[in-house]
Amino acid sequence: MRVGILGSGLMGGKLGTLFARAGHEVVFSYARSTEKLKRLAGDAKGKARAGTPQEAAQDADAVLLAVHWLRIDDVLHQAGNLSGMVTLTCSLPMDAVNTGLVIGRTTSGAEELAKKVPKAKVVCAFNTVPSEVFFGVYTARRRANRPSLVYCGDHAGGKAIAAELIRDVGFEPVDAGPLRIARYTEPLALLMGQLAYEGTGGPELAYRFQRFRS
Ligand SMILES: NC(=O)c1ccc[n+]([C@@H]2O[C@H](COP(=O)([O-])OP(=O)(O)OC[C@H]3O[C@@H](n4cnc5c(N)ncnc54)[C@H](OP(=O)(O)O)[C@@H]3O)[C@@H](O)[C@H]2O)c1
Repeated sequence: MRVGILGSGLMGGKLGTLFARAGHEVVFSYARSTEKLKRLAGDAKGKARAGTPQEAAQDADAVLLAVHWLRIDDVLHQAGNLSGMVTLTCSLPMDAVNTGLVIGRTTSGAEELAKKVPKAKVVCAFNTVPSEVFFGVYTARRRANRPSLVYCGDHAGGKAIAAELIRDVGFEPVDAGPLRIARYTEPLALLMGQLAYEGTGGPELAYRFQRFRS
């Protein structure tokens, strides 16, 4: 697949690198320096290059939106028309000091994003694990008992692409339902952050859902 990375920081930089290592064609975009984007592309050791947000979105099978909530409008503006595009978002609607969600209960960041980009196939994914675990999970790529990663969205084709990318980085995708379920997955992301950064386990923390049958 061709995946455009809109926001090449902790999340976008790591996930883009792993998508490239898994064989996808990746365009890194949206950082404060072009040098950083070029370095990421070089270090990815796969089919990766640096580009503008518009170039990242052009002809992409999916884009990954990975910016602070305050930068969403700017990156969308720079990316251009995402109508009809599979838009994976790991962005959380955090306040400026990253202490809490600015929206919730009756909506979610993912749903608000879907309103901003009409007809985009928005899938909420990747935000329920700290970025620090991605390389470890990819390296392990366990066959059994893989860590889970929940995702949700309203478009079946978009969700299929998300599930493939989730598997490619070593997680077991768990379909949590329609996009409105992001109202619950976004707070789950805060819980994971709390456990990862304030708890004793450190940021190398993933999770696994297990079904118990009687
Ligand atoms: N980090 C996590 O573990 C984690 C976990 C779950 C969800 N999330 C969510 O994922 C999203 C991304 O988080 P992150 O930790 O990856 O953030 P980040 O490291 O700050 O990355 C954001 C990217 O946006 C770029 N950027 C910021 N301001 C810019 C500007 N004015 N012009 C151009 N580029 C600019 C940054 O550039 P530079 O690279 O130059 O700084 C960086 O590449 C957030 O919504 C966050 O809530 C993060």
